[in-house]
Amino acid sequence: MPTLAPTPALAAYESLAPGYDAFTAGHDHDLWLRRILALALAHGLAGRRVLDVACGTGKSTAPLVARGFDVTACDISPSMAALATRRLGPTVSVSVADMRDLPARLGTFDLVVCLDDSINYLGDREDLVTAFASVARLLHDRGIYVFDVNTLAAYRASYEQPTVTAIGGAVFCWRGDLGDAPAPDGLHEAQLDAFLPEPDGRVARLASHHVQRHFGDETIRSALAEAGLRCVEVVGQLPGVRFSRPADDDVHAKRLYVARSAR
Ligand SMILES: C[S@@+](CC[C@H](N)C(=O)[O-])C[C@H]1O[C@@H](n2cnc3c(N)ncnc32)[C@H](O)[C@@H]1O
Repeated sequence: MPTLAPTPALAAYESLAPGYDAFTAGHDHDLWLRRILALALAHGLAGRRVLDVACGTGKSTAPLVARGFDVTACDISPSMAALATRRLGPTVSVSVADMRDLPARLGTFDLVVCLDDSINYLGDREDLVTAFASVARLLHDRGIYVFDVNTLAAYRASYEQPTVTAIGGAVFCWRGDLGDAPAPDGLHEAQLDAFLPEPDGRVARLASHHVQRHFGDETIRSALAEAGLRCVEVVGQLPGVRFSRPADDDVHAKRLYVARSAR
């Protein structure tokens, strides 16, 4: 097992955790998971055991639980995992785990998902291979792995200029710093300052720094192959959970991958 470099994602999400659900209030996870499950079924998903890697506060996990799947979840951030436990209740096992080193004790799975930019928090291609190999070890022979990555279009749209958004009583200030980017396989950084109203009338400030890497299609495919996985489909995703093909990095906000074991 290679030594894992510390990831800035841990500090980012430890800080953002109490504001994450408000920040992502516009994300329709129920519709997204419905479409992802339809895609997985079209690729022959059989079985009910699902692992949600980088589950965050459980927004990506809850629709799977609601559809009767036997779900396990994990995230690198203890604060995000604690909120997932609160959302999902005692019947769902939520662990603190790094996606680059998923413990065997989690079990084996028919479907593994890793959603909403989580893969973009991996530092480089080596991290990517390590994370994919970690999933490959827990995937049944006929299991399916679905994950998304941000496109260059997404970085152009959300990292090029500052935005201030009010959601409920909370205010989020997002400042992207692209430098020479957006660049294929390049780093994209942003500062997020969240101001959350507290029950006692005070306002809590949550400061988090987000470092994401764009991963081009070639990089993803070669890393999957090196990890013993086979890419079986890539779908482009537009806002409003609209899937279309072929995926285009300059048009779609996300590329959604379906992979299987190469065994
Ligand atoms: C944008 S959130 C997505 C959460 C959830 N999947 C959703 O759809 O709401 C990204 C999540 O990735 C997690 N994460 C980042 N790097 C990780 C790693 N190396 N291992 C496990 N989780 C990681 C963060 O802690 C965070 O909860």
